[in-house]
Amino acid sequence: MAEIGKDINKAKQLLQQGQLVAIPTETVYGLAANALDEKAVTGIFKAKRRPEFDPLIVHVPDLNRVSLYAKGFTSAARKLAEAFWPGPLTLLLEKKHIIPDLVTSGLPTVGIRCPNHPLTRELLKQLDFPLAAPSANPFGYVSPTTPQHVQDQLGDVVPYILDGGACKVGIESTIVAFDNGVGTVLRTGGLDIEAIERVIGKVNIQVNTSSNPRSPGQLKSHYAPGKKIMIGNLEELIDEHRDKRVAILSFKKDYNMPLQVVLSPTGDLEEAARNFFAALRMLDKSPAEIILAEYVDDSGLGKAINDRLRRAAS
Ligand code: TXA
Ligand code: MG
Repeated sequence: MAEIGKDINKAKQLLQQGQLVAIPTETVYGLAANALDEKAVTGIFKAKRRPEFDPLIVHVPDLNRVSLYAKGFTSAARKLAEAFWPGPLTLLLEKKHIIPDLVTSGLPTVGIRCPNHPLTRELLKQLDFPLAAPSANPFGYVSPTTPQHVQDQLGDVVPYILDGGACKVGIESTIVAFDNGVGTVLRTGGLDIEAIERVIGKVNIQVNTSSNPRSPGQLKSHYAPGKKIMIGNLEELIDEHRDKRVAILSFKKDYNMPLQVVLSPTGDLEEAARNFFAALRMLDKSPAEIILAEYVDDSGLGKAINDRLRRAAS
């Protein structure tokens, strides 16, 4: 069992010793270690049973520290950082030597993000190294949005979980790469594409390449619970599965079923995103044999929710 608490000093000491600490962010909980310490970073891959071809995001307290780890901002990247950091946005920048190859899986770029959570920002400010942190779940499983989610799955491999409450955004950061200065979204996430385009103009979107993915979070099956998920028209699906014990994951409509989560009764996509992973976990633990789900509206954060849902069902 991990200890759960709000003690920044304790988190700091463990991290300075090269140990792992689960940290809160506005998107999901991260499993953090000193990004400059290859041995500490190895601990992350082991704890998550994550393949080493899947690179980690490096977390910094503010924009000013980026130049220590990356060879500088392209002008589009700087504009995005100024507009949206701290926030759910990861920028892929050309890495400096100081970042171990293990962190980037040998890629020439490093993913950098400044998370928007007061506890974690304070922790990052006090440390003289950045934190490598993937989502704090076993590889391929649903991301954690509360300290208890982390405890349930990684409690025996992480000594301390810094308790920052439930995550306010609820889905991971949007990842943007730059090719000759032009932005490409590699993962949809907590910052919607429309907001990005208002600052740097049209971007490319490359989130669905399932073979040889540029960003392995794009793997076709990911965020997957143990139970089978079917997505479609819920009325029809419920009808087709009358003989089974089903769990329902709906966007806004109440289907009056005993095992059911409505993500947002008012159809608010931000609320739906905040509730999404916890709902998936809850239904996965329920006595149902199968989870029946429907897509949410495919605009704004809905794109990122639908992406997670599609991969969870894959
Ligand atoms: O919101 C988030 O981004 C959370 C919190 C903890 O910050 N972190 C997160 O990390 O979602 P993770 O490891 O679960 O997902 C990171 C994704 C992976 O799909 C990885 O392949 C991609 O980012 N990534 C990281 N560095 C990359 C790089 N240099 N090039 C391409 N993809 C990269
Ligand atoms: Mg993840």
